[in-house]
Amino acid sequence: MIVAAPVSPRPIAVVVLAAGLGTRMRSERAKVLHELAGRPLVHYPLLALRPLHPERVVLVVGHQADLVQAAAEQVPTDRREIVLQAEQRGTGHAVRCAMAARAGFDGDVIVLYGDVPLIRTETLQALVAAHREHDAALTLLTLHFQDPTGYGRIVRDAEGRVQRIVEQRDATPAERAITEINPGFYCIRSDVLGPLLERLQPNNAQGELYLTDVVGMAAAAGRRVASVAVADPDEVAGINTRAELACLEARMRDDLTQRFMAAGVTFEDPATAYLGTEVEIGPDTVIGPNVVLRGRTRIGAGCRLDGTNFLTDTALGDRVHVLFGTVSDGAVVGADAVLGPYARLRPGTRLGERVHIGNFVETKKAVLGAGTKANHLTYLGDCVIGPDTNVGAGTITCNYDGFKKSETRIGARVQIGSDTQLVAPVTVGDDAYVAAGTTVTKDVPPGALAVSRVPVRFIEGWTERKRAHEGQRGGKKGGG
Ligand code: UD1
Ligand code: CA
Repeated sequence: MIVAAPVSPRPIAVVVLAAGLGTRMRSERAKVLHELAGRPLVHYPLLALRPLHPERVVLVVGHQADLVQAAAEQVPTDRREIVLQAEQRGTGHAVRCAMAARAGFDGDVIVLYGDVPLIRTETLQALVAAHREHDAALTLLTLHFQDPTGYGRIVRDAEGRVQRIVEQRDATPAERAITEINPGFYCIRSDVLGPLLERLQPNNAQGELYLTDVVGMAAAAGRRVASVAVADPDEVAGINTRAELACLEARMRDDLTQRFMAAGVTFEDPATAYLGTEVEIGPDTVIGPNVVLRGRTRIGAGCRLDGTNFLTDTALGDRVHVLFGTVSDGAVVGADAVLGPYARLRPGTRLGERVHIGNFVETKKAVLGAGTKANHLTYLGDCVIGPDTNVGAGTITCNYDGFKKSETRIGARVQIGSDTQLVAPVTVGDDAYVAAGTTVTKDVPPGALAVSRVPVRFIEGWTERKRAHEGQRGGKKGGG
């Protein structure tokens, strides 16, 4: 009996083309740096291809290469290479640059563009699966469009086999009538691709090296060319203009809110909820109008965001109530906390359960124990506060002396009176009281009262004398 050795699938390399400026964006910024749902466009294909475990990911950059590279590096991948295409001489030239950097790679090369954000991993997997199933030299995605204007058209022979791709500008009227288009996703054997790229010629309307010519050359050489039809045009839609960007933004926003609604989240107005793709929201949370959730924001179950809230990389425990106008970046908030209205939480904020942060309170690198409250007009920066402490209105941690930041430590069950300045570094012990209007410049022992108040005194009859005096000088009486 002969047992076939298990055939290990050929390795995959992915080439992402992102060198173009995107002239129709009318922007100084490279197109792939424009943001969709809070992330640069180039992130999306990089994220979609990760589950394919490619042996290599080659990103071809040109315009604003450094910035595009920096954006790409925000997406973790082990085997990424950046290749500079200094001059954009066409999609075929871009892939040639990538392959030169990958000399010696033997496997299947997936080529896609950096400006197609809605591409799904499943579709890329279907592309590879069809390629292997048909033992094809080249496999591409295709799509039927009512209005194919601007796209390369798929020309098939009488048997329906893909013959070549013709660009809009090079097409005859008959070819322009073809509604099957090339969305620009290919899987190609590296041993077929390499030699064909060398043979590309810029003999077309744009004077460029067209990657699409590789399709015709492979077919003419009798190589097997396979295709996979995609159903959802948005999935493979490239962004060329700001109007298209806005359309996809709306589509994505709709998809995300629909998904959360199906999972038990209420949106009072889904049209004004702006969610990033990495956001998580627990069931029975209610999101009011004009809420922006960005980055790795995680909202627990049973929370309520009243509206006009802007949260980035923020984690809320269960049943947190966020009142109107609250802004948060990089904060972690315990269950049953109440935030706002008009609170501002900055990075390094860690709030325990049941903490209350009220109006016009700002926190930064502030760790607050369970049940602690700072309800009004307060700045808490570089501080650690124990549980069940009350921070009175107008309290300020004076953390910066113009040279360095210093820390304030406040214990448990402390009462900080209104209009207190805590001049850091300073410590207030457990169960201490700080009288209203105190400037704390020394450590307060546990259980002590700190007062730095100038005693109040009264000058009898002062108002009457003042008014008489001003009256003689012809001054105005009363407020004005
Ligand atoms: C290309 C296809 C066309 C297809 C369409 C789908 C070719 C010749 N045509 O046309 O059949 O219907 O995509 O959107 O491939 N790029 C580089 N370097 C270059 C040129 C382009 O990196 O030298 C990048 C661009 O940044 C962009 C992508 O490749 O992300 C596509 O380039 P673009 O010029 O937009 O191609 P299309 O004319 O749209
Ligand atoms: Ca394009």
